[in-house]
Amino acid sequence: MAQEKMDAGLDYEVKEEKVIDAAKKLRIGIIGCGWIAESHIRSYKRMPDVEIVAGCDLIPGKAQAFMEKFEIDGAKTDYASHKEMLDDESLALDAVSICTYNRQHALPTIYALKKGVHVMLEKPFTVTLDEAIEVMKAEKESGKILSIGFQPRLDANMQMIKKIVDSGELGKIYYIQTGGGRRRGIPTPFGTTFIEDKTAGLGALADIGCYSLDMVLNAIGYPKPLTVTGYKSNFFGKDPNTYPNHPEYADLFGVDDFAAAFIRLEGGIILDFRIAWAMNIDTPGDTVILGTKGGLRIPSTECWNGSVGGPMKIYKTIGGINMETEVPLAKADGVSLFDKKIRSFLDAIKNNGTAPVPSSQIVYNQAILDGIAKSAELGHEVEIRIPTV
Ligand SMILES: NC(=O)c1ccc[n+]([C@@H]2O[C@H](COP(=O)([O-])OP(=O)(O)OC[C@H]3O[C@@H](n4cnc5c(N)ncnc54)[C@H](O)[C@@H]3O)[C@@H](O)[C@H]2O)c1
Repeated sequence: MAQEKMDAGLDYEVKEEKVIDAAKKLRIGIIGCGWIAESHIRSYKRMPDVEIVAGCDLIPGKAQAFMEKFEIDGAKTDYASHKEMLDDESLALDAVSICTYNRQHALPTIYALKKGVHVMLEKPFTVTLDEAIEVMKAEKESGKILSIGFQPRLDANMQMIKKIVDSGELGKIYYIQTGGGRRRGIPTPFGTTFIEDKTAGLGALADIGCYSLDMVLNAIGYPKPLTVTGYKSNFFGKDPNTYPNHPEYADLFGVDDFAAAFIRLEGGIILDFRIAWAMNIDTPGDTVILGTKGGLRIPSTECWNGSVGGPMKIYKTIGGINMETEVPLAKADGVSLFDKKIRSFLDAIKNNGTAPVPSSQIVYNQAILDGIAKSAELGHEVEIRIPTV
């Protein structure tokens, strides 16, 4: 594979030399040609067994300009919506990447699955739990692969958290504190799709909250959430001073910029969670996993970006002596997390495998986000009920 630099905030060099059977090319379409679609297309372009055959966007001309920018010759883009593209049987699509804003995750995913197309869906899963359940029904009926875009869990440091928990050295896990955030970091560099209710539905909760939940829930095997007491606020989002060049964004802001919650998980585990796009402190704290035999501290990053902020520490008491073991940060292997995410999806399709990041796990993540939003509105604890699909 060629070595290339990427400029979408996920900087890296590709060094991996993986043998890929390029004889059978997978035919890929892109739904939603905005910012994150750029990372998808860059990764697909690096895969020798992929042909990008189509793209669509609700904004006329955007998909065409996108394909031109990435020099994808012959890709069809004359579609007014995801439906028109998925209805075009001449494309013979194998899979699509769904890179639309949150409120447009469920409908295109359901439509693609019903058309018999595999789906790589960007995070968060959806906005509401009800939508996630409808997507899972379509997934089950279709028998196709649906993988959800949680690339941070492919990071070696994130995987080390799971290895430490799985080793049993921490004993029974009973309390987790997680989350993170930014002092000032409401994402508006490319417009308002992250902050308007009609496009985003949820704010910091769905943007970075879903990642920090995945970090710890994946490590402990995704136990079922049972109840949640949630809080959310928007003090910074609604303040015109937050956007010196666009004070009008304050009126458009319709989501959360801070959220906190206390969640009970199956197995008697307590999850103490907080997440922020903006706050008057550098970090709301490190991630802490407490077990009966040991504890793990995962340093927060100042600008929470889905990574581990420094060497982790394991705390144990052996023979009456308190001990701490530092876990060195893993060396980067040179392959971008995005390439890993796309490659694992393609491999699952080619090998009749299962989704690398399955809906059966992420529905619990979504149920927590949904529970926080509902509890915050109601002002009291809510029980989380997840219908069986
Ligand atoms: N995995 C990551 O690292 C990462 C990073 C950023 C964003 N995201 C996720 O990606 C999603 C998109 O974010 P973005 O920053 O690219 O947003 P964006 O607003 O830049 O792009 C979304 C595009 O989708 C188009 N669109 C919406 N509904 C459509 C439909 N039904 N059919 C065709 N086009 C449609 C919009 O017109 C827009 O051009 C969000 O859900 C976000 O959470 C993931």
